[in-house]
Amino acid sequence: MSRHLEGKVAAVTGGGRGIGREVCKALSAQGAAVVVNDLGVSVAGQQETVSPADEVVKALKAAGGSASSNHQDISTPEGGESLVNQAIKDFGQLDILVNVAGILRDRMIFNMTIEEWDAVVRVHLRGHFCTMRPATAHMRERKFGRIINFSSNSAQGAPGQPNYAAAKAGILGLTWSSALAMHKYGVTVNAIMPGAATRMTDTIPAGRLAGAPAESDAAAGTPMDPANVPPIIVYLSSDEAKDVTGQCFGASGYRITRYTHLEPDRVIFNNGPWDIDHLFKVFKQTLGTGLKAPRMF
Ligand SMILES: NC(=O)c1ccc[n+]([C@@H]2O[C@H](COP(=O)([O-])OP(=O)(O)OC[C@H]3O[C@@H](n4cnc5c(N)ncnc54)[C@H](O)[C@@H]3O)[C@@H](O)[C@H]2O)c1
Repeated sequence: MSRHLEGKVAAVTGGGRGIGREVCKALSAQGAAVVVNDLGVSVAGQQETVSPADEVVKALKAAGGSASSNHQDISTPEGGESLVNQAIKDFGQLDILVNVAGILRDRMIFNMTIEEWDAVVRVHLRGHFCTMRPATAHMRERKFGRIINFSSNSAQGAPGQPNYAAAKAGILGLTWSSALAMHKYGVTVNAIMPGAATRMTDTIPAGRLAGAPAESDAAAGTPMDPANVPPIIVYLSSDEAKDVTGQCFGASGYRITRYTHLEPDRVIFNNGPWDIDHLFKVFKQTLGTGLKAPRMF
C-alpha cells in the first residue's frame, strides 16, 4: 500500500502529547516529515521544565521518519513564525499545518477571572492565528496547503467552559473565513471536533465523555484512544482532499461525523420597520415555536 503523504512537510502544534502526538505519528507513518511543536505546559497552561516534543521526535526517527522539534509558544507571533520558518529551514517547505495545542481553565461564567478568559482564548484562538498567518502567506506563494484546525464539541455550548467554548467557536469562524479566502490558492482549511481520553479529559467530571475510560492511562486500544482521531486528519492533509474545505468533522472513537454549517431556520418579514408591539404579538407563534437549546453530544 502506498503512503499518502510521501514528500510532504507538516507542522503540528501541541504535538508532544495526547491527540497531537498521535497526529504526528500518523502523518509520519504516511511519509510526511514532521516538525513537532510543544511548549510543554500543564493542562492549565503553566510551563513545565521539559518539552515532550523531543521524545516524539525521537520516536518518529526511530520508526524511520524525518522530524525535528520546536519548543515555542504558538500563542505568540514569534512562536508561529518560528514553526513555519523551521519547517522551511529543516525540510524546504510547509505543506500541512495541524493546530492541536490547547489548554483549559474551566469556570462558570459568573466566577471566571479575566486571566482565565484571556489565557484560554490566547492559546486556542490567537494561537491559531499566529501559526496560520505565516503559514497561509507561504502556502499562497506555493499554491498548495492543508490546514487542519482544532475546534471542540464544547463550542456548541459547554456550560462550564465559556472561555474555551468561545475560543473553539471562534476557530470555526476563522476556519470558514480562511477556507473561502485560500481556496483559489490551492489551500484547504478544515476543522476537527475530536474526542479522546487524554490528560485534558482527565480533568473533566467522570461520565461526560461517552466511552472514555476512567483515566487516559487506560485508553490504549479502547475507542477513546487518541490514536483513533488522526485518520480523517491524514485524509484532509492529502492531495486527494483538494476540494474538501471549510468543513468541520467530528472524530471520536470509531466515528467520523460531518457537521452542517449554520443555516437560516425560520424568517419573518415585515413591509417596513418592525413595530415593537407587533413583534411581541407574533413572536411566540413564529420564531418562538420549536426552539432548541444549543446541543452538545
Ligand atoms: N481530548 C478531547 O477529547 C478533546 C475534545 C475536544 C477538543 N480537544 C482539543 O484537542 C486538542 C488536543 O487536546 P489533548 O486532549 O490532546 O490535550 P493535551 O493536554 O494532552 O495536549 C495539548 C498539548 O498542547 C501543548 N500546548 C499547550 N499550550 C501550548 C502553547 N502555547 N504552545 C505550544 N504547545 C502548547 C501542551 O504542552 C500539550 O502537550 C486541544 O486543542 C483540545 O482543546 C480535545
